[in-house]
Amino acid sequence: MAKKRQLIAGLDVGTQKVALLVAEHTSRGIEILGVGSSASRGLRAGRVSDVDRTTEAVLAALTEAEMMAGSQIHNVTVSISGDHVCGTNSHGVVAIENGEVSQRASRRVIAAAQAVPLPADQRILHLLCREFVVDGQSGIINPVGMSGVRLEAHLHVISAGESALRNLVKSCNKAGLSVSGVIASSLASAEAVLEPEEKDLGVAVIDIGAGTIDLAVFHAGSVVHSAVFAVGGIDVTRDVAQVLETTLSEAEGLKKRYGCAAPDLVDEEQTVEVAGVGGRTPRVVGRRLLAEIMEPRLEEMFETVLDSIIRSGFGELLPNGVVLTGGTSMTPGIVGLAARVLQMPVRLGEPTGIEGLSDEIDDPSWASALGLVLGLPEKDMATPGKWAGGIGARLMPSWVRRRFKEMF
Ligand SMILES: Nc1ncnc2c1ncn2[C@@H]1O[C@H](COP(=O)(O)OP(=O)(O)OP(=O)(O)O)[C@@H](O)[C@H]1O
Ligand SMILES: [Mg+2]
Repeated sequence: MAKKRQLIAGLDVGTQKVALLVAEHTSRGIEILGVGSSASRGLRAGRVSDVDRTTEAVLAALTEAEMMAGSQIHNVTVSISGDHVCGTNSHGVVAIENGEVSQRASRRVIAAAQAVPLPADQRILHLLCREFVVDGQSGIINPVGMSGVRLEAHLHVISAGESALRNLVKSCNKAGLSVSGVIASSLASAEAVLEPEEKDLGVAVIDIGAGTIDLAVFHAGSVVHSAVFAVGGIDVTRDVAQVLETTLSEAEGLKKRYGCAAPDLVDEEQTVEVAGVGGRTPRVVGRRLLAEIMEPRLEEMFETVLDSIIRSGFGELLPNGVVLTGGTSMTPGIVGLAARVLQMPVRLGEPTGIEGLSDEIDDPSWASALGLVLGLPEKDMATPGKWAGGIGARLMPSWVRRRFKEMF
């Protein structure tokens, strides 16, 4: 009998684009079988603000991906973003019974560390174990079997606003999909564009999308800091529209075709035509002016991110600097601008090494969706359901049930 294929589907519900990938684990790794995308209209700064419009966009992307994959999709792993997604570090301590760390003790210390005071409407998404410490000896990945009297755990806890989570899951459910996991966008993007060695030495991934910047900082192989900022490419487009007195769609087109993050890189002689609004005649402006509008907003974004990295205390511990991804990272000159503001090495993170990676998805705006099908490292994936009673364990069954109620 032919073996049933194990398909994985990753759904990235972004502010500008809903992206769905269908993939299969093969002996050679992950192979992409289906790709679907659609314009997203029901989100504001990464958060679902209109369930029906989001459902429509999910359905459009789903139909396209299913057709290409030649299979129906019932379950998806979804990414979540928005400034309700918060990362905090926490610490727990327990006494070691009988002089040796048991499985139970390692679970107890995680439970102690996860007891972070969260606002009532926040739900834990990820409990990422950074390290265990036995009698002051730090950097331990698996403490079970070690001798000692005092066991500590350091975690990075990522939580999300409950209503934002529910609205995201509801939008998927209404499109006929059940949600098998929810992953913070920053972690998904990191999986697609970071090398394991970079995570070991110290690196930050910055995904600049349309409505959010998702930041995750890695040190010694683990996430040590994460944050989401409600700002992105849309704000650059708004600035362009405002200064050039044109529509958002014209400004978006000008930004993508002629935009640059560094005015110095633009030939002073070059000009671009700006369509007039409300029957006014088109105007011609210098292309350098476009870059002069974009530069300060992009600078401000990197200053915000830098401030967050410095406050995390890991600013000096990033020898591998920063990896930029997300659609806005396609702005010419952005790497140089980021390196100048952040004073760190910066590279562009483009997903590589995946079979079936077509031209369509071979750009940084697909990083999150690709990360979802690649999945988190096993140690990070297992935590919420097992230790936190988080979304996977507690909320999902009732949502799945509700989905069927809504459908029939
Ligand atoms: N060539 C380009 N130059 C500049 N900006 C670009 C370019 N291509 C795309 N962008 C910008 O990238 C953004 C979309 O990126 P992406 O698809 O990663 O966002 P998203 O995932 O939908 O949004 P978010 O992650 O913020 O919720 C838009 O603001 C778009 O203007
Ligand atoms: Mg995104």
